[in-house]
Amino acid sequence: MTKKILVLPGDGIGQEIVAEAVKVITILQRKFGLDVSLQHDVVGGTAYDQKGSPLPETVLAKAKAADAVLLGAVGGPQWESLPIALRPEKGLLGLRSGLGLFANLRPALLYPQLASASTLKPEVVAGLDILIVRELTGDIYFGQPRGIRRLPSGEREGFNTMVYRESEIERIARVAFDSARQRNKKVCSVDKANVLESTELWREVVTRVAKDYPEVQLSHMYVDNAAMQLVRAPKQFDVIVTGNMFGDILSDEASMLTGSIGMLPSASLNERGQGMYEPIHGSAPDIAGKGIANPLATILSVAMMLRYSLSQAPLADRIEGAVRSVLDQGYRSADIYTPGMKQVGTCAIGDAIVAAL
Ligand code: IPM
Ligand code: MG
Repeated sequence: MTKKILVLPGDGIGQEIVAEAVKVITILQRKFGLDVSLQHDVVGGTAYDQKGSPLPETVLAKAKAADAVLLGAVGGPQWESLPIALRPEKGLLGLRSGLGLFANLRPALLYPQLASASTLKPEVVAGLDILIVRELTGDIYFGQPRGIRRLPSGEREGFNTMVYRESEIERIARVAFDSARQRNKKVCSVDKANVLESTELWREVVTRVAKDYPEVQLSHMYVDNAAMQLVRAPKQFDVIVTGNMFGDILSDEASMLTGSIGMLPSASLNERGQGMYEPIHGSAPDIAGKGIANPLATILSVAMMLRYSLSQAPLADRIEGAVRSVLDQGYRSADIYTPGMKQVGTCAIGDAIVAAL
């Protein structure tokens, strides 16, 4: 049966990078018989400008009816002064919570061709292959109460709530252990259990779930130490499982081990196997419209979509093979350029991937 993909380019470079990913999907349809139909719509600041909301109800409804969502990025300086509820980021967060996409998989994989593009020494990052499993619908991102209130003294106070239920911790822990079983069988759970009760419970529940996975080795690390270990000796990690906010921060850090944040794809999955696929980077307003953004994270997100939502693992392998081949040919966007390589724009990278396919 034809699978439905909702395409939401969003804001900034989202438009340019998603256009390249759509080129890739189109060639898979034409050459390899991929049976999908594409629907396009707006989200984020673009949706606010056109429809008055960063996530119009019709768009959420279409996302719920789709087998998978391909998203570019949201945000930009022109929307930063809007009330939080109308900001582009709410469009993304609304999709995550509206679809129940609690499991965010962020693989940080170093392509050997890019070892010298990382700001870390090649020997520190060579062979790096980490999977960050970030909980995506709980924590301080969604916890209540939240807001800005005025105290009796007249001074204002901003507040948020960091909160995790046992069931939320358990289901994300299972995703991490199941993933580790397919990989190097190590899970490092990252928390701040020495200070925060919500993560004290996190540690307790993860430890309990680990008993069901005797073949997987579990370790625990405080988030500050994990941030340090990621740049000191990143290859000690296989699967990292952590909450929403720590995962946000650590995945940006991990991306730089791989050369550029422009290389990292992600999958956000719910309990029904529906998924949203997006690069982990943002809308990069500073380079939007210049045609120089790296589309590879978005193209690699299509590979994750094929694997996790469309049951087309061989086509996912083909895309990842095409990325390796394009890097072998020396094509580089500005963010991963090193002397001696051929620096090209967004569109040329997409074309090279299509040619390789
Ligand atoms: C990410 C982004 C988002 C997040 C923003 C845009 C809301 O940084 O996907 O990592 O904080 O989750
Ligand atoms: Mg982030």
